[in-house]
Amino acid sequence: MATIVLKRTGQKMPLVGFGLWKVTRSTCADTVYNAIKAGYRLFDGAGDYGNEKEAGEGVRRALADGLVKREDLFITSKLWNTFHAREHVKSLAKMQLGLWGIDYFDLFLVHFPVSLKYVDPSHRYPPEWFGDDGKTVNLQNTPMQETWEAMEGLVDDGLAKNIGLSNCQGSLILDVFKYAKYEPQVLQVELHPYLTQEALVTLSKNLGIAVTAYSSFGPQSYLELGMGKNVASLLGSEGVASIASKYKKTPAQVLLRWATQRGIAVIPKSNNHDRLVANLQCNSFDLTEAEIKQLSDLNINLRLNDPGEIDVRMSIFA
Ligand SMILES: NC(=O)c1ccc[n+]([C@@H]2O[C@H](COP(=O)([O-])OP(=O)(O)OC[C@H]3O[C@@H](n4cnc5c(N)ncnc54)[C@H](OP(=O)(O)O)[C@@H]3O)[C@@H](O)[C@H]2O)c1
Repeated sequence: MATIVLKRTGQKMPLVGFGLWKVTRSTCADTVYNAIKAGYRLFDGAGDYGNEKEAGEGVRRALADGLVKREDLFITSKLWNTFHAREHVKSLAKMQLGLWGIDYFDLFLVHFPVSLKYVDPSHRYPPEWFGDDGKTVNLQNTPMQETWEAMEGLVDDGLAKNIGLSNCQGSLILDVFKYAKYEPQVLQVELHPYLTQEALVTLSKNLGIAVTAYSSFGPQSYLELGMGKNVASLLGSEGVASIASKYKKTPAQVLLRWATQRGIAVIPKSNNHDRLVANLQCNSFDLTEAEIKQLSDLNINLRLNDPGEIDVRMSIFA
C-alpha cells in the first residue's frame, strides 16, 4: 500500500483512506468493517460526523476477528470548533477516543481555524455550527496558539501520535510554525480539479507537511446538501471521462489518481461497497504529465466548503 512518511514521527500514512463524513450511522459499523476487509487502513473521522461510536464498532469487530491489528490501522479524528479552549481539548479527545474504543489517534486535526462558544457534550453532541436557537453562530476568542499548545499536550500524553491542521491557509500555517513545539504533520483541505490550491500544496511540501485532499470529487459530495453551487459535475466531465476510458478506469479513480500521483493523500467516502472498493484501487495506473495538467486546467477556484458562507465572521478563506 502506498504511503506518505510523516516527518516528525516517521509514521506511514496511507495515500488512500476512507472518509467518514455522511457515512450513514445505521450502516457505519458494517461499512467500516467491510472497508477494512477490502483493504482500507486509514479512516478519516471527526467529532462533527456524529458516527465515531459506530465507526469504532466496525474497527473493534475487525480487530476481534483478527482482520488487522490496531497498529495496522491509521485512525484520524478532528477537534470541533466549540472545543478550542485549552481546558477542553484533552477532555474532548479523550471522549472521542472513548467513542471509538481506542486509546490513541494516529492523527488528530484542528477541524477549522474557527473558535466557537463551548457546548457541553452532555447538552448537545455533535454541537455543529449553531447555538441552541439553531441559527446563531456564537464565536469565541480562542487564538490558534492556545489550541495548538493543547493539541501538543495530546502528543505528550500519548493520545495522538500526530497532530495537524485542516482548512488553514498559508498565513496561519506559517504563524503556527513560529510557536509550535510539534509542527503540524498534516494539512487536510478541500482539493480537486475545480480547486487546485497549487500555492498551498507547494508551501506545505516545503514545510514538510503532508497534504490530504478532501472532497476529491468536487461538487458530488455537496449535492445531497443542496450546496453543489450548480456547477457541472467533475465525475461527469468530458475530459475526465475520456482519460478514464483510455485507461479503462472509472472517472472517480482518475480524479483520485490526479492527486495521489503528486503525493497528495485522498480520503474518498462512499456508502456503496463497489464504489468504495474501486476508489481504493486508484493507484494501479499512471496519468501522463499532460493529463495531470489537463485536469489541473479545470481549476476555477471553486470552494464548496466555506464557513464564511454560513456567517461572514467565519470567512477563513477571504
Ligand atoms: N476537513 C474537513 O473540513 C473535511 C470536509 C469535507 C470532507 N472531509 C473528509 O473528506 C472525506 C471525503 O470528502 P467528501 O465526503 O466531501 O466527498 P467525496 O469523497 O469527494 O465524495 C463523496 C460523494 O461521491 C460519491 N462517490 C463516492 N465514490 C464514488 C464513485 N466511485 N463514483 C461516483 N460517485 C462516488 C458518494 O456517493 P456514495 O456514498 O453514494 O457512493 C458521495 O456522494 C469526507 O468523508 C471526510 O472524511 C473533511
